[in-house]
Amino acid sequence: MMSTQEEAKRAVGRRAAEFVEDGMAVGLGTGSTAKYLVDRLGERVRDGLRIRCVATSERTAEQAAALSIPLTTLEDCHDLDIAIDGADQIDPAGHLIKGLGGALFREKRVAAAAEAFVIIADPSKEVPVLGVGCPVPVEFVPEACDDVEAALRELGADPVLRLQDGQPYVTDNQHWILDAHFGAIGDPFSLEREINQIPLVLENGLFPGMATRILVGDASAVREWAPAGSPGPEGDESSTDLSEDYG
Ligand code: 5RP
Repeated sequence: MMSTQEEAKRAVGRRAAEFVEDGMAVGLGTGSTAKYLVDRLGERVRDGLRIRCVATSERTAEQAAALSIPLTTLEDCHDLDIAIDGADQIDPAGHLIKGLGGALFREKRVAAAAEAFVIIADPSKEVPVLGVGCPVPVEFVPEACDDVEAALRELGADPVLRLQDGQPYVTDNQHWILDAHFGAIGDPFSLEREINQIPLVLENGLFPGMATRILVGDASAVREWAPAGSPGPEGDESSTDLSEDYG
């Protein structure tokens, strides 16, 4: 039987798939929530939906290919209609931390190329302030590890090299990640810029002001809202009752 959290992920993933329309170019996120989105899009493609997708990771690309979802690249398709992805933390203004799954570099490129950037999450991801209990992942060129670590310390972080099986975790782009623990982040916009100014840092997991719509679900309902300042009706909030699906 599915846990409540897993049901929430499934609910938002499937709901967000309904935003995708025939003919769209779609960015596909990475992670355990985005996986449900891709599953649902696979069903819709099988039923005749015609879309082109850009995956944010090799994992997602493999899943999409296995479901016969047509894949392209940002090089061939610069402008996406929509990107849909998970998040690690969401603050009340809709600013995000992403990248605990290691795909932050492509995730940010894809999100930046999309007209709409939809976030799907279970309620555990909503927090009053970014950074408490969650590091900012920082992807960088491996040779610069010591320098990037020192620069992150200068910015007030406690950086920890991400490991997998005792070795540095290697991203899809052959880089490494330092998980930078800052504690409460007051200004995600300036911190995002400051981290990216460190030489040989490729990208970091702060996504301030990027989400245009946020879906947070549990097994009974999906709540949707638009961060202030994003395109679409400001502060617009709605809720979809899922009790028929799960009751
Ligand atoms: C991967 C990500 C994921 O979107 C984020 O980690 C959320 O993942 P999950 O849906 O598994 O909780 O940023 O780089």
